[in-house]
Amino acid sequence: MPNKVKLVFLGDIVGSSGRKAVKIFLPEIIKKYKCDFIIANAENAAGGYGLTQKVAEELFSYGIDILTSGNHIWKREFFPYLQKTERVLRPANYGEGAPGKGWTIYTKNNIKLAVINLEGRIFMRPLENPFTIGKKLAQEFLKETPFIIVDFHAEATSEKLTLGYFLDGLVSAIIGTHTHVQTSDERIFPKGTGYITDVGMCGAFESVIGMKINQALEMYLSMVPRKLEVEKDKKIKVEGLFLEFNEKGKTTYIERFRLIT
Ligand SMILES: [Fe+2]
Ligand SMILES: [Fe+2]
Repeated sequence: MPNKVKLVFLGDIVGSSGRKAVKIFLPEIIKKYKCDFIIANAENAAGGYGLTQKVAEELFSYGIDILTSGNHIWKREFFPYLQKTERVLRPANYGEGAPGKGWTIYTKNNIKLAVINLEGRIFMRPLENPFTIGKKLAQEFLKETPFIIVDFHAEATSEKLTLGYFLDGLVSAIIGTHTHVQTSDERIFPKGTGYITDVGMCGAFESVIGMKINQALEMYLSMVPRKLEVEKDKKIKVEGLFLEFNEKGKTTYIERFRLIT
């Protein structure tokens, strides 16, 4: 068992701007943190909505090990790939018949890393309970590895914090995604679990959560729903979290980062 495991987690990658930011910044992130594993949330990586096999493979080619996702992953044409891959997850608390897997145990350099993807239920769809499903999966995976990461893809900060306290000591880290706005509350809980309410996003800096500002404004002025396009040709950023775990899988160090072109 290694005496230290290092992880980098990148926030939601939004469209081509997000992928470009990852391509630019990941080499220096890898060099700086010398991380064993890289996880990124990719639910918006293809055109701002969902993922494709081509885009997933592009992100793997940059050095990302596992892609997690959330409410935006459900592109029908992606289902066959989602069904067969072990490296792209969708939230585990969807119902019967949902394609793909909500968790994986990934082995690299003889280290087993369990990754669990969960989705929140406050201001989101009424899925199965992420608390009970998350705890059950964590208890199961603890038999195999002390290194367990949870991506909690959720809107409400209170729901995220509550899950954090609930799984403290059972998992190595709980990392919030979905809002695309990085929070400054990264911390280590009393029983050794690393936590951040939201890790942020990778994509256009001058944007509304990665999308075109004028389109978001039009939507909020009129309140007529519309599809937003990914903001391009602007300053781009990568936001993420670096964590170090001891041999028992507890977080010993946590650092939030933001890199801007
Ligand atoms: Fe997202
Ligand atoms: Fe989302």
